[in-house]
Amino acid sequence: MNIKQYIASIPGFPKEGIIFRDVTPILKNPDCMKYVTEKLSAFAKEVKADLIIAPEARGFFFGIPVALECHVGFAPVRKPGKLPRKTMSQTYQLEYGVDELQMHIDAIQEGMRVVIIDDLLATGGTVEAMIKMVEFKQAIVAGIGFVIELDDLKGKEKFKDIPVLSLTHFEGE
Ligand code: PRP
Ligand code: MG
Repeated sequence: MNIKQYIASIPGFPKEGIIFRDVTPILKNPDCMKYVTEKLSAFAKEVKADLIIAPEARGFFFGIPVALECHVGFAPVRKPGKLPRKTMSQTYQLEYGVDELQMHIDAIQEGMRVVIIDDLLATGGTVEAMIKMVEFKQAIVAGIGFVIELDDLKGKEKFKDIPVLSLTHFEGE
């Protein structure tokens, strides 16, 4: 399956100079969605995941089906002020300014093998913030799975010692 044909590329969105990689055609195609879910799930099983976490919003598209396929739990990572119970927070760097992600404080137990799933790896800031929350809970990031990796941004250098699977890559296109 060539999943690149199910990724739409939109130059100039959300701003000049950016090519937006849109995964919604994957969601519309059950065969492609099944393929993506199976590939990411096989990886999560291989690294012995016992919890899947993913960041809103696009991470949820893939994190929840992977958790279901692996028959393990799922915990959402959200923007501030969305989770109703006690949370932990981690700020992360954007191109201009900072942003913040939160999880319920009891979402992860000590010693768990956590797999992070997201649609896309760019600078790695989002995932780096998630790694810090997992490690704050004295759990282990067993692996990180992406549908798309933007190679030029070298995000993977932020987590050199953790197994990473990216189903497709873009570089300077
Ligand atoms: C996008 C994308 C990844 C993240 C990658 O999410 O879905 O989560 O950016 O960028 P990074 O590697 O530089 O951190 P975005 O924050 O735009 O939010 P969304 O998923 O809610 O659309
Ligand atoms: Mg996202």
